[in-house]
Amino acid sequence: MTDTQPISSEQAAREQELIETVVASFDGAPDERLKQVMRSLVRHLHAFIRDVRLTEEEWNAAIAFLTAAGHITDNRRQEFILLSDVLGASMQVVAVNNEAYENATEATVFGPFFVGDAPVIDQGGDMSFGAVGEPCWVEGSVRDTAGRPIVGARIEVWEADEDGFYDVQYSDGRTAARAHIFSDADGDYRFWGLTPTPYPIPHDGPVGQLLELVGRSPMRASHLHFMVSAPGFRTLVTHIFVRGDELLASDSVFGVKESLVMDFRPHAGTEATPDGRDVAGSTWSDVRFDIVLAPAG
Ligand code: BEZ
Ligand code: FE
Repeated sequence: MTDTQPISSEQAAREQELIETVVASFDGAPDERLKQVMRSLVRHLHAFIRDVRLTEEEWNAAIAFLTAAGHITDNRRQEFILLSDVLGASMQVVAVNNEAYENATEATVFGPFFVGDAPVIDQGGDMSFGAVGEPCWVEGSVRDTAGRPIVGARIEVWEADEDGFYDVQYSDGRTAARAHIFSDADGDYRFWGLTPTPYPIPHDGPVGQLLELVGRSPMRASHLHFMVSAPGFRTLVTHIFVRGDELLASDSVFGVKESLVMDFRPHAGTEATPDGRDVAGSTWSDVRFDIVLAPAG
């Protein structure tokens, strides 16, 4: 409880009676799951209102906030997902739906920047498609929890460019810094991407205002997104993060897990690359990410 004035037993009884009346209003719902969810939602919502003794001005401000979130939302911008992200709700849904399973790789938040029809690349191909940034050689394996290779797993990868923008945030319709690749006959994969850089989540709307009011940064820790699927296995949505990134402890959407922090090794432009690619004197990096999929179901 917050440090508000205690209420009389008569007042408490009135408030409790309202809760029971509202909860009972769902008794006739034909869908048992919907009934369960709505009853619980009402109990928790009322508990929150009573806990903080919410004022009418505060409730009106909350309605105005949600209205503004609705107005800024369209096909390209989803303010309600951002709200869910910064409240940690997205990560809690990920946690509830991706129960720890032996040594399976941990999942993290999906984010709003995945695109379903990204181009396919061959082993050793370049998923940057001209996006600006330092080249990064990414390699690893896809295995089951017993260590057996998973052949032909579909590996979707996507990331922001060095200016902190995904391709879909540009208005020229480009496709860049995203692709998919299939694990080879040994369950391995390798490709060129970009060394991840930090970027802010969209913060020019109500969610950004909320972050500012509470003194929180919109910055995400540097990361490279993966979605890995194969028949018979639980689809893994995750990212890898950069060890040493100072934003690891303050990621705006609570997506960082220690097991997903990887060593991105820096290399001078004069060093030979793993596949002999000419990086024209640019510095480059490399990282290894071995993926373990849990069985489906
Ligand atoms: C992302 O990682 O792409 C992301 C996640 C949550 C909110 C905004 C962006
Ligand atoms: Fe991202």
